[in-house]
Amino acid sequence: MTSKNSSIGIFDSGVGGTSIWKEIKTLLPNENTIYLSDSKNAPYGEKSKQNIIDLSIKNTDFLLHQNCKLIVVACNTATTNAIKVLRQKYKIPFIGIEPAIKPAALKTKTNKIGILATKGTLNSELFAQTSSTFREHVIIKETIGTGLVELIEEGRINSTEMTELLNTYLQPMLENEVDCLVLGCTHYPYLIPQIRKIIGDQIQIIDSGEAVAKQTKSILEKHELLNTNSKKGKHQFYVNKSKKTLEILLNKYENVISVEEKEF
Ligand code: DGL
Repeated sequence: MTSKNSSIGIFDSGVGGTSIWKEIKTLLPNENTIYLSDSKNAPYGEKSKQNIIDLSIKNTDFLLHQNCKLIVVACNTATTNAIKVLRQKYKIPFIGIEPAIKPAALKTKTNKIGILATKGTLNSELFAQTSSTFREHVIIKETIGTGLVELIEEGRINSTEMTELLNTYLQPMLENEVDCLVLGCTHYPYLIPQIRKIIGDQIQIIDSGEAVAKQTKSILEKHELLNTNSKKGKHQFYVNKSKKTLEILLNKYENVISVEEKEF
């Protein structure tokens, strides 16, 4: 049986979902979390829908064995391809993340927004549905961030290769006069300093991390599952490849009790 003291389970194709974990830890400091980094199978963005569903089920089963009370799918690609199946298959509440098209569409003045995401997200039915509502009055310049996730997984965030790839993807957005850039992949917030160097300060960068944390809180409240313990939460991490990049990204955070390499 899960209880208020059970952990929030979080999974991603790799280390990127830690950008969501940080937001959850900030908003809900007393919650315990278990994070699963499926780095062995990253990137999900190039895989078939069925493959992404199978991997999402595998990750969910692992987290349920740890008795998690709610699962955050901290991956746009897994959410847009698999969350419907997960919600049908399991009783536990799921929170997903989708590219923040709506806030961007409300903020844009040029009526042109850019979105950087994986192939799997941009080609998904869910993304087609969500974005179609806004296409009547906003031009959406979509770009697949091929190669970005792999470089982040390898810890090569500040490499020349990264700068070159970002230049290739972002220059056309500048030429198209977008004034909002949606980061539609949870790995990408780690690239914000690099992205800023290319696009300057005039374009707003929008991601869904904070919104996901708020939604997590509200669903926990609704199910009466908010942890009422006054102590700071504890955070466990599992990764099925080298833990090096994960450790670097988590270096400055308190209450990370373990980062463990494990087969799953
Ligand atoms: N963090 C995942 C996302 O939000 C990366 C997907 C991938 O592994 O390609 O989409």
